[in-house]
Amino acid sequence: METIVSGIRPTGNLHLGNYFGAVSNFLKMQKENNCFFFIADYHALTTHPKPGDIQGNIKQVLAEYLACGIDPEIATVFIQSDVPEVFELYLLLNMNAYIGELQRTASFKEKIRKQPDNINAGLLTYPVLMAADIIIHRATKVPVGKDQEQHLEMTRRFARRFNSMYSVEYFPEPDAYNFGHKLLKIPGLDGSGKMGKSEGNGIFLADTPQDIRKKVMRAVTDAGPQTPGEKPSEAVKNLFTIMSVVSDPATVKHFREMHASCEIRYGDMKKQLAEDIIKFTEPIRERIISISADNRYLAKVVAAGAERARESASKTIRDVRSIIGYKPF
Ligand code: TYM
Repeated sequence: METIVSGIRPTGNLHLGNYFGAVSNFLKMQKENNCFFFIADYHALTTHPKPGDIQGNIKQVLAEYLACGIDPEIATVFIQSDVPEVFELYLLLNMNAYIGELQRTASFKEKIRKQPDNINAGLLTYPVLMAADIIIHRATKVPVGKDQEQHLEMTRRFARRFNSMYSVEYFPEPDAYNFGHKLLKIPGLDGSGKMGKSEGNGIFLADTPQDIRKKVMRAVTDAGPQTPGEKPSEAVKNLFTIMSVVSDPATVKHFREMHASCEIRYGDMKKQLAEDIIKFTEPIRERIISISADNRYLAKVVAAGAERARESASKTIRDVRSIIGYKPF
């Protein structure tokens, strides 16, 4: 039995990238393993210092995750800010995290480009808080998308450094895990980059069928293949990638063959893709609506989750303090 931790920032609705990058495998693993699923609401402050309706956002993301099938009877579902032990471990790990390595992190470099007026210390130490989230439960596997690969490498490094610094074998080194070790990057509909919450290129699980049809029909393509066997352009490759996670393999094969023989009509491919996405998202959307209306249920889930998460986290904190040398008189 493995211990698995998965998290998401409550900075927008869940999209297909989140689902296939982080949730689908969590769902497969939750039955046989010791699973923690949480909402990283303090991480959200690194980019959204005045988070507005943070409570509403947390609730929405929570309802969306539950609607996907995360089962709070099996997995521990909680909110990061409900588990203060995490922030103690974050502080302790910060003492052995070095400015140089933090400044070299790709996500930090990207953020300083994106928000030059708010290069805060929380952004710099983002990977340390993320490592604390994971190792506080002594996790061994973390289902994440490709964009989190470097953060997991750093998590392993911080775990290893703690162990060697204090001469213990206490923290396991957790693996980024998805389909085997193949991490996914679900692309957006705008021809480049990954699907994101704020990029305006995403399909959200809560989108209506009309929204989805409109978005997919507007997706970027190209002028069409000119010579048989030609490789698809980046934009068309992206559509094939999305198709490969929502459509059945025969459908993907059909459109790949049509592309290879230059007979493809992107309009037909998009229509098929939109309907396959809707088939996948519509039952989830219906559950999102009913779960998010049930405040009492949501409150019960996170209260029970906080209790279980704190139990696991406080044991680690007790051990860590004692390993470092903090002991009762
Ligand atoms: P966040 O909120 O950006 O995304 C949540 C999860 O969704 C994955 N993801 C994707 N996967 C594939 N293709 C995409 N286009 C795509 N977009 C997002 C992300 O890889 C992620 O797994 N740092 C984390 C939150 C976090 C966390 C943790 C995760 C904090 N502490 C501890 C795991 C364990 C983040 O920003 O996720």
